[in-house]
Amino acid sequence: MDATTFVLFGATGDLAKRKIYPALFNLFIDGKLPQAFSVFGLGRRDLNDETFRANVRQALRSFSRRESNDPETVNRFLRAFSYSVLNIDHEADYVKLLQRIEQREAALGAAPNRMFYLSVGPEFFETIADNIKASGLGAANGWKRLVIEKPFGHDLQSARELNESLSKSFEEHEVFRIDHYLGKPMVQKLEILQQANPVLQALWSNRHIANVQISANETVGVEERAGYYDHVGAVRDMFQNHMLQLLMMLAIHLPNNSTSDDVRLRKKKVMEDVVPLTIENVAAQVIRGQYTEGTIQGKPVVGYTSEPGIAASSTNDTFIAAKLEIDNYFWRGVPFYIRTGKRMKEKSTRIVIEFKDPLKQPSLANDESKLPNLLVFEISPNEGITLQLNTRDLHNKDEFKPMNINFHSSEQDVPEAYENLIGDALNGDPTFFAHWDEVELAWKWVQPILDAFADNLVPLYPYEAGSYGPSASDELLAQDGFRWRFDSEPEQPSRPKQQIETKEGAANYAYHAIH
Ligand code: BG6
Repeated sequence: MDATTFVLFGATGDLAKRKIYPALFNLFIDGKLPQAFSVFGLGRRDLNDETFRANVRQALRSFSRRESNDPETVNRFLRAFSYSVLNIDHEADYVKLLQRIEQREAALGAAPNRMFYLSVGPEFFETIADNIKASGLGAANGWKRLVIEKPFGHDLQSARELNESLSKSFEEHEVFRIDHYLGKPMVQKLEILQQANPVLQALWSNRHIANVQISANETVGVEERAGYYDHVGAVRDMFQNHMLQLLMMLAIHLPNNSTSDDVRLRKKKVMEDVVPLTIENVAAQVIRGQYTEGTIQGKPVVGYTSEPGIAASSTNDTFIAAKLEIDNYFWRGVPFYIRTGKRMKEKSTRIVIEFKDPLKQPSLANDESKLPNLLVFEISPNEGITLQLNTRDLHNKDEFKPMNINFHSSEQDVPEAYENLIGDALNGDPTFFAHWDEVELAWKWVQPILDAFADNLVPLYPYEAGSYGPSASDELLAQDGFRWRFDSEPEQPSRPKQQIETKEGAANYAYHAIH
């Protein structure tokens, strides 16, 4: 692997401690860091190298998925770390940094390949990128890469402006935009599962699929992020990025031996084929919700507008559900339902594929007990795949009985999203990063929703904390003859549409008992 200097802006921040240092450490344990590797931590706080290393050591103790029993391993890892105070606005600080970096690279005899990781607010991206260029930090005779995290802008216009300004210092192939959902192991497997299994390939289209449901339910509320979250809502925080990335990853059709370029081009194609919304039809296809007080895992919780830092009059969305259509050869006529929300009943990110039943005969009494075939990808917190089939009920031969075939990853200690992504960025593999084209198309699709929300053209439905969102989200599917599948508890009296066949209830409970 190429020698690399990892230049980390925001080295004393939360993301660095929780995710970046543990990811680097686990890559180190697995021998996946370059031989010649240095980390330059940067921040406003006045730390020396020793204190910085002690802080990193502490972060590993608190957040690393693996610990090392051997203190010498940690010491060897920490030897790569040094710290510089840097004022983001001062070009002179970047010039000083360049001198330190050059000394270190010379001492290691290492090529000047530099990865700039911006673990800071997006309002600083532009200044940092400009100063990297102006100071000569980005002009060495090796490669340079920029790693940034969402939010990439606040809407289509601001995203374009941000991209334009970054592109003065970095070319598109040098920019690695992290969407941590693309680092989740099951999301990374979607592509290969489809490519390497003819049985899935054969089913992957409107011929056999009735609808697709993509959910990211969270039990947490706004936490300590009121200032951020109240301005973005679920639509910007989760939908524009993570949810649309899941859609693209699921709906691509890839050739054998596809390259990262194939993946990008075909993801882009999917997004181009998603039928655009207009501000007038947002209300028919998008449900906006906000949680009220309720109970989460047995504990009472307050409603959104009673959360610290949130105004009582806030109309921010903490839940969004949408129906999308992809107008291409494979997916024409298949609705994709996407939802995400805070303070939901369970923490689960999953994709449910519901298959068509061409032989369904509603006139037969027992046909009602027959459930659709489902293929379920559990993405997190547990990883798994389930296939729901129908079989005979041994005690009541007139009835069908659903059977779930479960695969659950028993692998403990799988690499975290950040490990996968930082490892890929170090290798220069852009497959699981968001290309600008995808980001721009996603903002383009979402823009009418932002406008309709801002103009209050879409009702804001309250939903009880601990539920699966407002009943309007059930109606979105019910009007097409479908319902959300695989929610953990199917019977919920407050949501009449959820009163469904107890058979599936039993099956789902069995499924969850295995978890
Ligand atoms: C982040 C959002 O991008 O993703 C958070 O900003 C959200 O609001 C988080 O909680 C969810 O990630 P995960 O991996 O827990 O599903």
